[in-house]
Amino acid sequence: MTAQAKAPLVNIVSEKPLADDLARILLTGTEIASRVADLGSRISHDYQGKDLVLVGVLKGVIFFLSDLSREISIPHSFDLVGAQSYKSGVKSSGQVSITKDIDLELQGRDVLLVEDIYDTGGTIHLVHDMIRMYRPNSLEVCTLLYKKCKRTKTLPIKYVGFEIEDVFVVGYGLDYKEKYRSLKCIGVLHPEVYQ
Ligand code: IMP
Ligand code: MG
Repeated sequence: MTAQAKAPLVNIVSEKPLADDLARILLTGTEIASRVADLGSRISHDYQGKDLVLVGVLKGVIFFLSDLSREISIPHSFDLVGAQSYKSGVKSSGQVSITKDIDLELQGRDVLLVEDIYDTGGTIHLVHDMIRMYRPNSLEVCTLLYKKCKRTKTLPIKYVGFEIEDVFVVGYGLDYKEKYRSLKCIGVLHPEVYQ
């Protein structure tokens, strides 16, 4: 390969660790793991004898869903639904569309909708309405993060990992422009990163 062909790579691949872009850490990987274990044991207790299906909302939920599933000791299935939330910068617009439907049969089953973060609530409301049409036996919501902010609509959330202040966060699945999802902690970016 010529030096010229290599040049653009040098510009886009940074050697800097991802975590260096964080201004502060809100939740460490250890704190998250411990809370996910608590949620898993509560869910295992509450859904004894039920036909539990976890439905995760792509793609921010993938690490939470896979860790939560492995902390649930009772038999269960999981599926994924795709939802695209339109954001300008770091603000949710509240406008959402479904990009991937459910594959599993949900009728008569006990569905637990799993989300990474409840911000405006637009995503969860839309997915909740969609799942209701499949006539599950029960439908509850579990969110890892719940932002304390003003909302026009609210939905009862049965399981909340952490209530957080109304700031934009990244890590453990959550992204800024598709980056930072792989961080084990959850934190707030340096303001320069947005500029
Ligand atoms: P909603 O506003 O509750 O519909 O949230 C929409 C989606 O925006 C969430 O599922 C996340 O994927 C994303 N989102 C909301 N707040 C944050 C944040 O603080 N960091 C990263 N993504 C976020
Ligand atoms: Mg999400």
